[in-house]
Amino acid sequence: MTRRLAMTAQQLLGPIDLAQASPRRIGTLVAHEGIMLEVSGFPQPLGSNVRIKTAAGDYVNGEVVGFRGHRSLVLPFDTNLPLATGAPVEPHGASSMVACGKALLGRIIDAQGNPLDGRPPVKSPFQWPLAGRKVNPLRRGRVTKPLNMGVRAINGLLTVGEGQRVAIVAGSGVGKSVLMGQMIAGTECDVIVVGLIGERSREVSDFVETKLPPAVRKKSVVVAVPADHPPLLRLRAAMRATAIAEAFRQEGKKVLLLIDSLTRVAHAQREIGLTLGEPPTMKGYPPSVFALIPSLCERAGIDRQTGGSVTALYTVLADGGDIEDPVVDSARAIVDGHIILSRTLAEQGVYPAIDVARSLSRTMVDSVDPDHAAAAARFRQLWSAYEENRDLMLMGAYVAGSDPILDEAIRRHPDQLAFVKQPAGAQVDFQSSRQSLIEGYSA
Ligand SMILES: Nc1ncnc2c1ncn2[C@@H]1O[C@H](COP(=O)(O)OP(=O)(O)OP(=O)(O)O)[C@@H](O)[C@H]1O
Ligand SMILES: [Mg+2]
Repeated sequence: MTRRLAMTAQQLLGPIDLAQASPRRIGTLVAHEGIMLEVSGFPQPLGSNVRIKTAAGDYVNGEVVGFRGHRSLVLPFDTNLPLATGAPVEPHGASSMVACGKALLGRIIDAQGNPLDGRPPVKSPFQWPLAGRKVNPLRRGRVTKPLNMGVRAINGLLTVGEGQRVAIVAGSGVGKSVLMGQMIAGTECDVIVVGLIGERSREVSDFVETKLPPAVRKKSVVVAVPADHPPLLRLRAAMRATAIAEAFRQEGKKVLLLIDSLTRVAHAQREIGLTLGEPPTMKGYPPSVFALIPSLCERAGIDRQTGGSVTALYTVLADGGDIEDPVVDSARAIVDGHIILSRTLAEQGVYPAIDVARSLSRTMVDSVDPDHAAAAARFRQLWSAYEENRDLMLMGAYVAGSDPILDEAIRRHPDQLAFVKQPAGAQVDFQSSRQSLIEGYSA
């Protein structure tokens, strides 16, 4: 088989040194289109890692992502090196396993597991597949235990349970990353895994310096890939962060996984899918994007066998506040809760700018007691009454006394905003959040 393909390459390209091609199956770079490379004489399976020798004698790593006829399609991890036609391409290392476990705690790595923190390479005998392990759905536990996230409005009104998956949806600059940092500092868990994907490079160091105080940092792993890196690396970073979280769960740990942002991961898959010739659908996203989001989010959850859990938060960018965006829609359909941040609240200085009426935790009913649930429902009722009638009130068309609920909503509105407001550096635990909600809003 190898030989026959090598022959094809030979016919296409003229003389190739076949002795060199075997036994290491060296392929030949024959085309470069956009970000994609075509390699002939190289029948490696999908997902294989390869390296290509550049004109300068260095190597560029890449991955086999598809086929076209008898040629393999390879995406390189570095796009700026001088590649020449006829360059040799060879298999390079076992591709799909990720170093995991406690050797990673306190470390900052890139999509390929290389250290970014100036410390020695991470060595760990504990390896886990990049794409995760398929599990029997019955092995996944139900979400029934509230997890303290350190944010009053979330603990009280949008209670996150251990093993839940939550999307934080907002336009740019409304406070997603700050809220995430607040939850990192406040969440009660054993390990925190953060995937910083497609952010500005400046934000990576900013994140590490401002949102990871030493006590938190020693139980955290950061996988960071800024926006200027090739799409395959951005995609792999999200998968690597998820794999690291899964491996800690396998050891029975309570893990918090944060992906900032899922939209950038979807953009990376969009670039790859379109290059591979997939048809664009809504907003130019090819179908593979809508397969990727569930496959990534489904990996979080509780493992009944080990007792470990991965509670996951994904930030999703809603351009121009558009929550009908296909990525938002597809993420909302798969996660068990969404926290929508409102630009209007942020502009009023209400931080975290949680739009209580439009946000929802679907598993909250299973994790809180009836008093707590009733108080949260009451809070929501008043909040929504105020929101729905805001225009009427602004026009002066509402006459006080005509609707008792609205009257109370107007009277209580400042209290409600005060309940949601919380300075970025402050933490409120689950019990006190519950207590103040019940005190203010029990029926
Ligand atoms: N809790 C807060 N208290 C005070 N200011 C805040 C708070 N949260 C956000 N801000 C303000 O909003 C700005 C943007 O916040 P942040 O970086 O979290 O937004 P983002 O939604 O992550 O933006 P992007 O879409 O660019 O990633 C901050 O620089 C800060 O000025
Ligand atoms: Mg951000």
